[in-house]
Amino acid sequence: MPSIPELFATMEWGPAPEAAGQAEAWLDRHRRKFGHWIGGGWVEPSGEEWFATINPANRQTLARVAQGSAADVDRAVRTAREAQQAWWALGGHGRARHLYAIARQIQRQSRLFAVVESLDNGKPIRESRDIDIPLVARHFYHHAGWAQLMGQELPGYGPVGVVGQIIPWNFPLLMLAWKIAPALAMGNTVVLKPAEFTSLTALLFAELCGEAGLPPGVVNIVTGEGATGAALVDHHDVDKIAFTGSTEVGRIIRAATAGSGKKLSLELGGKSPFIVFDDSDLDSVVEGVVDAIWFNQGQVCCAGSRILAQEGIAESLVARLKVRMETLRVGDSLDKAIDIGAIVAPVQLERIEALVAQGKEEGAECWQPSWSCPTEGVFYPPTLFTEVSPAATIAQVEIFGPVVVLMTFRTPDEAVELANNTRYGLAASIWTENINTALDIAPRVKAGTVWINCTNVFDAASGFGGYRESGFGREGGKEGLWEYLVPLVPTSAPPLPAPVAGEPVLREGVDRTAKLYVGGKQTRPDGGYSRMIHDFAGGAVAEVGEGNRKDIRNAVEAARKAERGWATATAHLRAQVLYFLAENLSIRATELTVRIAGLTGVSDAEARREVEAAVSRTFGYAAWADKWEGAVHQTPFRNVTLAMPEPIGVMGVVCPEAPSLLGLLSTILPPIAIGNTVVAIPSERWPLLATDCYQLFDTSDIPPGVINLVTGSSDGLAAVLAAHDDVDGMWYWGSADGGAEVERRSSGNMKRTWVDQGKSRDWFAVSSEGPEFLRQSTQVKNIWIPYGA
Ligand code: NAI
Ligand code: MG
Repeated sequence: MPSIPELFATMEWGPAPEAAGQAEAWLDRHRRKFGHWIGGGWVEPSGEEWFATINPANRQTLARVAQGSAADVDRAVRTAREAQQAWWALGGHGRARHLYAIARQIQRQSRLFAVVESLDNGKPIRESRDIDIPLVARHFYHHAGWAQLMGQELPGYGPVGVVGQIIPWNFPLLMLAWKIAPALAMGNTVVLKPAEFTSLTALLFAELCGEAGLPPGVVNIVTGEGATGAALVDHHDVDKIAFTGSTEVGRIIRAATAGSGKKLSLELGGKSPFIVFDDSDLDSVVEGVVDAIWFNQGQVCCAGSRILAQEGIAESLVARLKVRMETLRVGDSLDKAIDIGAIVAPVQLERIEALVAQGKEEGAECWQPSWSCPTEGVFYPPTLFTEVSPAATIAQVEIFGPVVVLMTFRTPDEAVELANNTRYGLAASIWTENINTALDIAPRVKAGTVWINCTNVFDAASGFGGYRESGFGREGGKEGLWEYLVPLVPTSAPPLPAPVAGEPVLREGVDRTAKLYVGGKQTRPDGGYSRMIHDFAGGAVAEVGEGNRKDIRNAVEAARKAERGWATATAHLRAQVLYFLAENLSIRATELTVRIAGLTGVSDAEARREVEAAVSRTFGYAAWADKWEGAVHQTPFRNVTLAMPEPIGVMGVVCPEAPSLLGLLSTILPPIAIGNTVVAIPSERWPLLATDCYQLFDTSDIPPGVINLVTGSSDGLAAVLAAHDDVDGMWYWGSADGGAEVERRSSGNMKRTWVDQGKSRDWFAVSSEGPEFLRQSTQVKNIWIPYGA
């Protein structure tokens, strides 16, 4: 007879399968073949192409789904367009009732949804049942509330219109909820394309919308592969694209939508650091790693896939992790007793295997538990790499599987440096028992979500989204709603008179020329050329330096150098500097008035009005500097979730042509008020109002490098700025073509852009100051901090 401890040690877990009968019956009811869901019913696809969706835990086909064609997409978009006005006209309360009905219905059918999800994706039933589906319901409840409150909380804003949404396969129904709930709440209608590996819960959801009485055409689902997604992106009558998936496809979509006027939000990949200080509670850390990288087989965009361990505990942590990894169980997704399910598809397994092989080749130490995975499905064991160099492929590339790399650091500064040594910036988690350490590191890590002593926690009330190449835009929380809104009354101004001068006259020699302003110094343009500026009547007034690529590079360098100090200066200090600037500006009011009137030919009164507006605007941003506040989100866990608006970094700003002084200050001051540094291209036609300000900036104590001005060709310099990889964000106020070029070129480092599509804005309007500009100057970081009991 074995002893009880021996029994414990050797006891095998029996299988504990969740029943699949109801899910199988649903599939059978559809004869395991699905068309698209358009206009509130099933629609036969226009073509004859179907593809199989498999259960990766046993490689068997679950059903066949339609390969959506451009014609199918067009039909869905037209249907969504027809439904949109009535959906918006229903009002906030009407839409709230529908979203609430969907939330209730999901709860009623939660088991069916969980089983279908686990079958199609391979994820453990414990996760789909306890995490995915409850969060889906929570998203619809939460956004039912936003629909209800829209009129009170978001006055002056309305829906974007028809939204195209493309989602990945790792959290199929949850990503659907993240996309559909806010879009519908704000009065938009949608066409959603699920990922080709996991279409089934979206189709089940479509049916649920029908049962819940959602008006036809509000939600449309078109299935298919990447080409179907591309057709949706390219459709001329889609007003916005919301995408979650790989950075590679995100980049394609950025380029494809450039110049189309479509709004765009991208939630892309990550290589998120999991930082362990040597004073942390290692038992919690080990469970944290399990949640960080073995949750959902590591197929999580914000997976903590880079453990950064402080040297003192690294060895002990590795030992404990190995012990824990031995106890993890991999197996059938419907088995309630497994920890890790199947990888979504064979192609994804191959990707993981190739990256692991490369990790070994590059010299890292690979460790896997002694047991082996079941052989009939698509499985991969939990894997730990040590002896990893920070530059190694496996330390830089998103593996999207149950594979974690571990590196060590000595000091907090080194931890921050390693954490930020990535192109991505989606999430981070920080483990320490010392609150000072945690709150010192959290603001320094470049990531949209920071979890302190926890990881992979999500809620509808909190925003989620990336910095850098992890994309832009937020999902969840109030910050997520802006993606689905536009101002109801766009501001517009009468078109400008056509310029008198034709081609600019460039001349060699820059002796009596207004120079560029870089790093707090007036500098000669690198090329040694200048251009003549003319007044409204064509008379030559003065020359300004003709900036080139090298000048932009120098200006970006100066802005980068100033960035850290300015971003960490107190908001009070930034406010003071801007007040000082406003004061100095008003002392020069008469001189600036004469300059404006002389150049542009407007009346003295009109010129005076511009200068007064410019002074008021500068006071305005001095006032805003310490009032652009974040929020504490009401997430239902034992923590506070701080939504902190942070500066984007170095921003390129192409200023409006006119009014040139008010336009300049209206576009460079909001980023600066919030802690960004700026490289600006002043009005090409009348840059003299900008060059007149150099001294003002100097005498107002604006630190060198915070404002840099490069005069010359707006679109030529804009193209250089947009392609510059060390510029983090860019605003463009100019021609439609120039804006399209900026958007296209921005995809290199996925800098966020704000382009006005050639529409002219009334810069005197109240709406040309404040919230819209400050939102575009910041990115929200959500910091989750354990709190209370
Ligand atoms: P993917 O980015 O190709 O697929 C995501 C969605 O985009 C799918 O619905 C797909 O059909 C669609 N799509 C593909 N090409 C498109 C195009 N040209 N235009 C419009 N839509 C298009 O991701 P995939 O190939 O499934 O996975 C590849 C890698 O991407 C993974 O190994 C992982 O590293 C990363 N990934 C990251 C995700 C995240 O949430 N951050 C999610 C899925 C994948
Ligand atoms: Mg599948």
